[in-house]
Amino acid sequence: MKNEMKVLYVYAHPEPKSFNAALKDTALDALKEKGHEVKLSNLYAMKFHPVLKASDFPERKNLDVFNPFFEAIKASKSGAFAPDIKEEMEKVKWADLIIFQFPIYFTAMPAIMKGWIDRILAPGFGFNPITNNAYDTGLFKGKSAMLVTTTGSPKEMYSEGGGHGDLNKHLESITHCVFEFMGMKVLPSHIIYEASSMSRERGAEELEKYKKSLLAI
Ligand SMILES: Cc1cc2nc3c(=O)[nH]c(=O)nc-3n(C[C@H](O)[C@H](O)[C@H](O)COP(=O)(O)O)c2cc1C
Repeated sequence: MKNEMKVLYVYAHPEPKSFNAALKDTALDALKEKGHEVKLSNLYAMKFHPVLKASDFPERKNLDVFNPFFEAIKASKSGAFAPDIKEEMEKVKWADLIIFQFPIYFTAMPAIMKGWIDRILAPGFGFNPITNNAYDTGLFKGKSAMLVTTTGSPKEMYSEGGGHGDLNKHLESITHCVFEFMGMKVLPSHIIYEASSMSRERGAEELEKYKKSLLAI
């Protein structure tokens, strides 16, 4: 990986005074301190529209039946996506590393962030099954991605054999089936367990740990 990178930070938490917001601010400062260029997509603050819909494709090929997969494949060739999609796609093209930070909601990312994935990482953009561009030949080869997330449940609950099962395994629906599928290298997920019941001291320690891990990338 290059020393100085272009980092896209995709962030989803609705509250600017939350622990997640502090984590995001720590990350942006640490990345800049290291000399990386950073762009932020703060999805709630942007009021990002997460629902994939027909008007995402202003030059629809088939006006009778809306087939999102084929419209996306075609739009990826012409660039005819809605303006908010194009803006985010430009950030993705620009980035060497994409970091997604979010609180765990029902063992997954919040809907607003999944919607960002549905609309921005469109068929034909990061992958194309028709031309066999996936995994080793994914269209985002050369880029890296990383998940950063906080939970309410303790680590034991999210371990193999625990009540919920291994959180890293659950996250593979994104790390493997989205990021690796598109050819990206996946960095280890940074998970902060029991974030909703932390003392101030532990919160400060977790911010410091995260800062150190980012400085070490
Ligand atoms: C809708 C919703 C669903 C949640 N689902 C889970 C869950 O499945 N597992 C879990 O450990 N915590 C869950 N939580 C708790 C949050 O992950 C936790 O409160 C958050 O990570 C704490 O970070 P914050 O203080 O920055 O909000 C959920 C919270 C909400 C609001």
